[in-house]
Amino acid sequence: MTMPPSEQDFLEALKWQIEAGADEAIGALPLDRTAARPAAAPSRGMAEAPQRLPAPPPASPPQAAQSLAPQVPPSRARPAPSLTSASEAQASAQRLAATAKTIEEIRRALEDFEGCPLKATATNLCMFDGNPEARIMIIGEAPGAQEDRQGKPFVGPAGQLLDRMLATIGLDRTKVYITNLLYWRPPGNRNPTPAEIASCLPFLERQIEVLQPRLLLLVGGMSAKTLLHRTEGILKLRGRWADYHHPRLEQPIPALPTLHPAYLLRQPAQKREAWRDLLSFAEAMEREGLAEAAAAAAG
Ligand code: URA
Repeated sequence: MTMPPSEQDFLEALKWQIEAGADEAIGALPLDRTAARPAAAPSRGMAEAPQRLPAPPPASPPQAAQSLAPQVPPSRARPAPSLTSASEAQASAQRLAATAKTIEEIRRALEDFEGCPLKATATNLCMFDGNPEARIMIIGEAPGAQEDRQGKPFVGPAGQLLDRMLATIGLDRTKVYITNLLYWRPPGNRNPTPAEIASCLPFLERQIEVLQPRLLLLVGGMSAKTLLHRTEGILKLRGRWADYHHPRLEQPIPALPTLHPAYLLRQPAQKREAWRDLLSFAEAMEREGLAEAAAAAAG
């Protein structure tokens, strides 16, 4: 006799799926893809048989399904973004970002923005952490699971390593402004698409314009390649200072690409290279008079 699965079996199955990267629920109702399918139509005579369209879905879920549907709290039940074309999304982002004059207004503009489809699957907007008056800006890639839960960049294991790296050159979150290229988590931490990056870029450019940082630390290949318009991988770009040219600022901003702490967690031997980058960044802070400011802020 086959025993029905126990609660422990379900928990093990869930754990296995999470480890395999399936850590987002994207439908309101569970779908058993292993359930027996209806028998396939006989293949003989198919060419002559009239093609039948599948029945249209019911206008509202049947009663039983309605009662099974998890109750989604109103704050998470968002309509799907309505802007479909990439250029429409970018134009909307540019319009919204242009009207924002402060970091808080940029945050509100992002809340109103419907052009990035990642918003529909994310739990929270994740825009920045740190000091909005800092002259040092750190730009990563995209929020992960913990960032999505807390609505703050770099709070998971990679963020904790980033904090330790910053501490070695006298920095902490009171002295830097930390943000990402993307403001909503890509499901399962997949790489963002070029269209998703392009739709969020006006908000990053606006943050840079408002903050006018003196130095940029570009964490990971995606932010380095996007902001510096380069195609090489991060192992080529890291440790080499480059000028970031903002479309509306007269002066370029010195930017240093470095290895992403998530990569360093997987490849600890590369921490040596990251350390070299940090020393170079500390020298630049010194040159810009930012090292004293950081020390003074530390008391
Ligand atoms: N990785 C990033 O690039 N950004 C985060 O906020 C977290 C992890």
